[in-house]
Amino acid sequence: MEYYNEISKGYEELHGEEQRKKLIVLKQNMKVKKNDLLLDVGCGSGISSDFDCDVIGIDPSIELLQTGFGKRKAKLLVCGVAEFLPFKDNSFGIVTSLTAIHNFNDIEKGLMEMKRVGKGKIGVSILKKSEHADKIIGIINDEFGIKERVEEDKDIMLIS
Ligand SMILES: C[S@@+](CC[C@H](N)C(=O)[O-])C[C@H]1O[C@@H](n2cnc3c(N)ncnc32)[C@H](O)[C@@H]1O
Repeated sequence: MEYYNEISKGYEELHGEEQRKKLIVLKQNMKVKKNDLLLDVGCGSGISSDFDCDVIGIDPSIELLQTGFGKRKAKLLVCGVAEFLPFKDNSFGIVTSLTAIHNFNDIEKGLMEMKRVGKGKIGVSILKKSEHADKIIGIINDEFGIKERVEEDKDIMLIS
C-alpha cells in the first residue's frame, strides 16, 4: 500500500494506458445497466471506475484517491480496504476490482466482503503473474461462479 502512495503522482503515466485497455475489455464483457449501483474495490485514482452507471470507489491509498478527485466518474470515494467494506449487505448490483485483489492483505476476507455487499455479480481482472492468481480464481469460482473468462496479455478477466 505504501508503494501506491509513493507512486501516486506518476501512477497514471505509468499504468494509465494499460488499465484503461483492461477496463474496455471488462466493460465489453459485462452487462452494466445505467441504473446499476457499482462498487469499484481498489479503485486507485479512479481509472477503473469509469462505468456508465452510479459508481462508488474504495481504496486505501488516500494519495491515489486524491489524484482522481474531481475528474473521475465515481460519485463517492471512500478511503478503506476490501477486507472491511463499510457498506450494508446486498448494497451493490455489481462489484468490480481491476488488478487489485492480489494486493489485499487477506484475499479470502476481501472477496467474502465483496460477496457480502454485492448481489452476486462481479467483474474482476486478475494479474496473471501474481503468485496468488490461482488462489483468487479458485475462490471466485467457488463463491461467485464464473460465467465468462477472458484471457488478456497480463490479466485474466472473470465475470460472474
Ligand atoms: C494496480 S492498482 C489498480 C488501481 C485501479 N483499479 C486501476 O485500475 O487503476 C492496485 C490498487 O489496489 C489497492 N489496494 C491495495 N491494498 C488494498 C486493499 N486491502 N483493499 C483494497 N484495495 C487495495 C491499491 O491502493 C491500488 O490502488
